[in-house]
Amino acid sequence: MKIGIGSDHGGFELKEHIKEYLKEKGIEYVDYGTNSLESVDYPDYGKKVAEAVVGKEVDRGIVICGTGIGISIAANKVRGIRCALCGDTFSARMSRLHNDANVLALGGRVLGVGLALDIVDVFLDGEFEGGRHTNRINKISEIEG
Ligand code: RB5
Repeated sequence: MKIGIGSDHGGFELKEHIKEYLKEKGIEYVDYGTNSLESVDYPDYGKKVAEAVVGKEVDRGIVICGTGIGISIAANKVRGIRCALCGDTFSARMSRLHNDANVLALGGRVLGVGLALDIVDVFLDGEFEGGRHTNRINKISEIEG
């Protein structure tokens, strides 16, 4: 599985920790920036990762800003993206099992590194259950038009 990862300055440090973790686990990733703590606009990075997922450059995305809120809103504006902002492992698990989330959003100023890495693990391991949830996912797509 190939992961696309991106953040603004508020998520930059956590992004670097996650990259290190993915490297240790032998999981391939593409870093869509940002590359420093210099202030940037989170929609630019949410869009880049979301478009990479929809365009199948990568299989799933991880986006990070200070709270995870702004970048998740931005990613969810891209048609075909189901971006889940998660602050706990239960939500991360359910985001895959029930919502077939294809992008995970994290708050770099909210989460400790240990919890964030656990959330990433659960998100990457989870498989969509399908069944009754498929109809619900399809209804989300209908809202997109
Ligand atoms: C940047 O200061 C901050 O607003 C951003 O990282 C994020 O938290 C927005 O939702």
